[in-house]
Amino acid sequence: MDLSHRPRRLRRLESIRGLVRETRLDVGMLIYPMFLVEGEGKREPIDSMPGQFRYSIDTCIDVCRQNLDLGIAAVNLFGYCDDKNDAATGAYAADGLIPRAVTAIKAELPQLCVQTDVALDPYTHHGHDGLVVGDEVVNDPTVDVLCRMALAHAAAGVDWVAPSDMMDGRVGAIRRALDDKGYNHVGILAYSAKYASAFYGPFRGALKSAPKKGDKKSYQMDPANRREALHEMQLDIEEGADVIMVKPALAYLDIIADARASFDVPIAAYNVSGEYSMLMAAAEKGWVDADEGMLEMVTSIHRAGADMVLTYFAPRVAALLNR
Ligand code: PBG
Repeated sequence: MDLSHRPRRLRRLESIRGLVRETRLDVGMLIYPMFLVEGEGKREPIDSMPGQFRYSIDTCIDVCRQNLDLGIAAVNLFGYCDDKNDAATGAYAADGLIPRAVTAIKAELPQLCVQTDVALDPYTHHGHDGLVVGDEVVNDPTVDVLCRMALAHAAAGVDWVAPSDMMDGRVGAIRRALDDKGYNHVGILAYSAKYASAFYGPFRGALKSAPKKGDKKSYQMDPANRREALHEMQLDIEEGADVIMVKPALAYLDIIADARASFDVPIAAYNVSGEYSMLMAAAEKGWVDADEGMLEMVTSIHRAGADMVLTYFAPRVAALLNR
């Protein structure tokens, strides 16, 4: 037995472990995804995501204020829409739920970074992220609608738009549309490598946005592909993305690490609904400790190379970090 090296010496005390710790979480890297509904005073529990709720604009603002007090400086908004139609007109209505929410939040909390999802799935009956013609999710006509949607959010005062649809060419098109209308300060958080994943299940329950027919494999990426993710990220950077994102996070830590090694732009990762609910369900059964599991998850995502993390655990992580 050669004991000239004893790595355990550096694990003896928490004070020593703290000195040699390589990765630290900071509340400033957290983005809280929130679901909005019409109405007032609403806080509807989401069955598939224990501890998460659909909020009306007023209660959403309360949560954002509490989050700011915890140091969480960013929110990413998803809208629940009852008024679905196949042209997805609800997606770009100037007086839609999301634009109204953005304006109201920015009026109360101007320092908060308000981000909005840009994709058509909550606004169509079929639940696809784009327009459907025949059996096809059509690319170019969808991009036109996404541009209108981004412009409606920009007019309402959004800080970042986050296209999550995986259509080709949409980052460049949205960038040009924003710039043409004078919104050159609005950032683009691009879902660059978004995989066709089973881990979005609980989210689709929250928004009743599951595709009625077929799946999203003709636009979201094949989980088997790694080089293709780098290609997608390269294209989005060339088209003007400010931040590139990998989604989901946990089964794709290699992709996050590849992105970090390949690009110098900021990288985000989305710790998605399935990752959240999987841990919460196991914790409810007493099989896994939720706090420890959560910190381990978010730390691993940051360790892999993500600068910022969208996570439903954000307030819970922040509360622990602030302790
Ligand atoms: C849809 C969208 C999805 C998520 C974010 N935007 C679901 C999907 O692509 O079907 C998933 C988020 C999560 O699971 O937490 N544009």
